[in-house]
Amino acid sequence: MIDTLDSLTIDRLICALFYPQHDAGPNCAWERLFQNAPLDYYRNYPQAPFHTRFGPVFYRGRLDGTARVLVIGQDPATDETLAGRAFVGQAGQIAQNFLAKLGLTRSYVMFNTFLFGVQSASLTPTMATDATIMAYRNSLFDHAKATNSLTAIIAFGSYANTSAINWPGRGSLPIIHVMHPTSPSGVAADWNSHFAAAQAVIAPDSGGHVDTTPYATSGAMPHTDVPRRDLPFGLPSWHGTGGGTQSQRGASPNFETQIVWNAL
Ligand code: URA
Repeated sequence: MIDTLDSLTIDRLICALFYPQHDAGPNCAWERLFQNAPLDYYRNYPQAPFHTRFGPVFYRGRLDGTARVLVIGQDPATDETLAGRAFVGQAGQIAQNFLAKLGLTRSYVMFNTFLFGVQSASLTPTMATDATIMAYRNSLFDHAKATNSLTAIIAFGSYANTSAINWPGRGSLPIIHVMHPTSPSGVAADWNSHFAAAQAVIAPDSGGHVDTTPYATSGAMPHTDVPRRDLPFGLPSWHGTGGGTQSQRGASPNFETQIVWNAL
């Protein structure tokens, strides 16, 4: 058998086994779905609450059928915009720690409630159940469910939970609704109180280790670097690492038109 493998095939096998160090992006079916996003609807939303100028952020994680957990967040910030992937800044790295404690190192796919960042002062619960926004989001969830063997949903924050409970295709998938990673207080105690329920429906990945040590309820929440396999090729090695957010919107009057990105 090995004699019949040409060097290109062997190279591909070695690459797949040892160098899954970037995310190659959506396959054709996912790309078609992403191309159908209601971007103009977001752009023309009344009172313009969405940061639409730098484009949407669709996902992070596995789009190849190997996801077991659907992770839902709220909305992308500037680190996410720069990476073109959800949950890579401070909030994402704290969320990654929760996944890591469950032993979940790769078998997840993440989407946000909104494709674009939202000005927090303008954010209202009804935006999450807006018919167009919700129908599109549910089409992503439907495709994730149809193409993966999902066992659970982790909803980070109340908007994420709104997304989960307003997804008719959810069926009997359990929702682990935990506080958003960057909620001002109470995250550690909340996550501790939901850990056993999460563990009951989420098996660890091979090589992942379940860590049942409770989070300390004082001090900063621990963080875990975003795996390189979740990020596009060529992103600086420090992006998604170190626990912090590396970018912010420009100062007025360039709030919408400038992102300031700081190297580590
Ligand atoms: N970044 C995301 O992608 N989602 C969140 O909920 C927070 C930060």
